[in-house]
Amino acid sequence: MNSLFEIQPEKLNENVFQLLGKDWMLITAGTIDAYNTMTASWGGMGVLWNRNVCYIVVRPQRHTFTFLEKNDYFTLSFFHEKYRDVLKFCGARSGRDVNKAAETGITPMVTGNNAVYFAEARIVIECKIIYYQDINPNNFIDPSIAKNYPQQDYHRMYIGEIISVKIA
Ligand SMILES: Cc1cc2nc3c(=O)[nH]c(=O)nc-3n(C[C@H](O)[C@H](O)[C@H](O)COP(=O)(O)O)c2cc1C
Repeated sequence: MNSLFEIQPEKLNENVFQLLGKDWMLITAGTIDAYNTMTASWGGMGVLWNRNVCYIVVRPQRHTFTFLEKNDYFTLSFFHEKYRDVLKFCGARSGRDVNKAAETGITPMVTGNNAVYFAEARIVIECKIIYYQDINPNNFIDPSIAKNYPQQDYHRMYIGEIISVKIA
């Protein structure tokens, strides 16, 4: 388990393509009494409306989607390579069927805003949802994007303002 300390977002010294695209993350939404987590590798970080933000994209059939809809915050938890099997599990199974933390042995923790993250993470980014928008196939300028949606289950994009960044 890591002891995490808070840093300013500007001090996060990571490559976002590696962090999201290769290392993957857990998106977690809800409160400690009712939350869910899932693996994700699509999304990003940047600056919008003069705020530091993260964006995530979640398909509507995900159990995590329900929690994003009902709560104001989400967290992104990033792990060392030895947790790859945890991320694979949380990306293959649904919280509708299993308790992912109990099954994988990761430890849920709460932020000051009652958002849930995992103690074993090496980086935790806490975000407050400030905007959402559904991916609109009418706007696929590159038509090959459509192959990502054989079931027309277009992601909902959530933009979260970064509230805190913790690193191990
Ligand atoms: C590497 C990886 C990346 C994923 N990225 C996303 C993503 O960005 N958005 C999404 O909706 N699902 C993504 N998934 C799929 C969800 O993690 C998966 O469907 C999960 O079982 C959903 O769990 P839930 O129903 O408990 O929310 C990804 C899965 C893996 C393995």
